[in-house]
Amino acid sequence: MPDISINFAGIKSPNPFWLASAPPTNSGYQVMKAFDAGWGGAVWKTLGVPVVNVSSRYGAINYRDTRIAGLNNIELITDRPLADNLKEIEEVKKYFPDHAVIASLMVETKAEWHQIIKDVENAGADGIELNFGCPHGMCERGMGSAVGQEPEVLKTIVEWVMEVAKIPVITKLSPNISHIVDPGLAAAKGGTNAISLINTIKSIVGIDLDSFAPYPIVDGKGTNGGYCGPAVKPIALEMVKELTKHPEIKDIPISGIGGIESWRDVVEFILLGAGSVQVCTAVMHYGFGIVREMEAGLLQFMQEKGFETIYDFKGKALPNVTEWKHLNLKHKVVAKIDESKCVGCELCYIACDDGAHQAIALSTENGSRVPKIIDENCVGCNLCSLVCPVEDCITMEKRDDGTQHVTWDERTAAGDIPTTFDDDRAGGKHHFVPTVQDALKHRS
Ligand SMILES: Cc1cc2nc3c(=O)[nH]c(=O)nc-3n(C[C@H](O)[C@H](O)[C@H](O)COP(=O)(O)O)c2cc1C
Ligand code: SF4
Ligand code: SF4
Repeated sequence: MPDISINFAGIKSPNPFWLASAPPTNSGYQVMKAFDAGWGGAVWKTLGVPVVNVSSRYGAINYRDTRIAGLNNIELITDRPLADNLKEIEEVKKYFPDHAVIASLMVETKAEWHQIIKDVENAGADGIELNFGCPHGMCERGMGSAVGQEPEVLKTIVEWVMEVAKIPVITKLSPNISHIVDPGLAAAKGGTNAISLINTIKSIVGIDLDSFAPYPIVDGKGTNGGYCGPAVKPIALEMVKELTKHPEIKDIPISGIGGIESWRDVVEFILLGAGSVQVCTAVMHYGFGIVREMEAGLLQFMQEKGFETIYDFKGKALPNVTEWKHLNLKHKVVAKIDESKCVGCELCYIACDDGAHQAIALSTENGSRVPKIIDENCVGCNLCSLVCPVEDCITMEKRDDGTQHVTWDERTAAGDIPTTFDDDRAGGKHHFVPTVQDALKHRS
């Protein structure tokens, strides 16, 4: 049986599955229930100064049949008294000494930071997470993303924390910044022991068409909130990769957060270099029980691939993540339709003809609705295979023989790049375009 325990910046956990700081970690009751269900760690709902929350608080993107493809919230940090939270942290550690309890913190002044760090250390927390993320409410008071968006301020606060912290410190970054490396480097320079990301993305999920107010509506008005859930996973993966590939950050443990719902999501974050993962929305949607599928799936994946520990595959995708200029321009794929699987919906034809490269023709054979790929027009963009509703009905076939490899970078170095559009080396020069008459079928 593979070993899925982790040591994350000195914080030990029986598995890499942690709850993110959010409503599911609002109380000792919830954290103990989660540990009992199989979660290895929990980042407590952010502790700090007294706040007042509004009602309602959440909005969602329901995409077609999927409820909560994305979740938006305008909630603040915990509104429960600090003393209650500290007592419950202590209690959780008594019942679960081998699980990871991390206290998420957000205060303002140096004195407040020093005091609250002492408080959570005394309560027995295994680590501290600095919340520099909330894109609503707290930032208006100079905290949360107001810090996460200002690398110099972030570095100063990390330094204040590192002056006194005796337990590992994780700096949680805001994605509401154009270049995530800037706060990542600031956290590293401030001396953080680890980094976690992403917090929520500043967003408006929709407008009510009767009251003309954004969701969630608070007495006829709304505000921007923080977006999370499955919709944000690609953004989170990219930002994790930016840090795990950066020479000055790559040795700092990274906790991956954003849209994680299944074992596969967990594996993807670890393959990009995350050393633990954190989950919020999926637990708010389905409850703590989802960890059972995560654990079973992770174990099966590791067994199938022959990995004995998490560290055997942590970061294993990173050598394959490169810049566009290093991709092989000689690689060529073309779409292929498996006629035995095709249900004749013609979605591929519509997508390619209207939205891509006019490389699919409707069948001219009597009775057949299986479209035909026009190989010479197909640029191998994948669109048809993405829209086809039948699994593996359209696959991409390799057409180059694998002997040639040349990149844009190499061609630039060799002076072998097109400089005018009629240069034979220009990519789109021989692109097929149908006639104007073909576009105007509905005109008489
Ligand atoms: C309702 C709600 C409240 C949250 N509160 C906090 C918080 O107090 N502190 C914090 O660091 N992050 C907070 N988050 C952000 C989550 O910890 C997490 O970073 C984000 O939701 C992305 O993960 P997910 O896609 O799994 O939800 C909150 C998220 C939600 C949805
Ligand atoms: S891969 Fe792209 S260009 Fe080729 S047939 Fe499909 S949609 Fe058209
Ligand atoms: S989208 Fe798929 S199933 Fe539909 S016609 Fe094209 S190949 Fe056939």
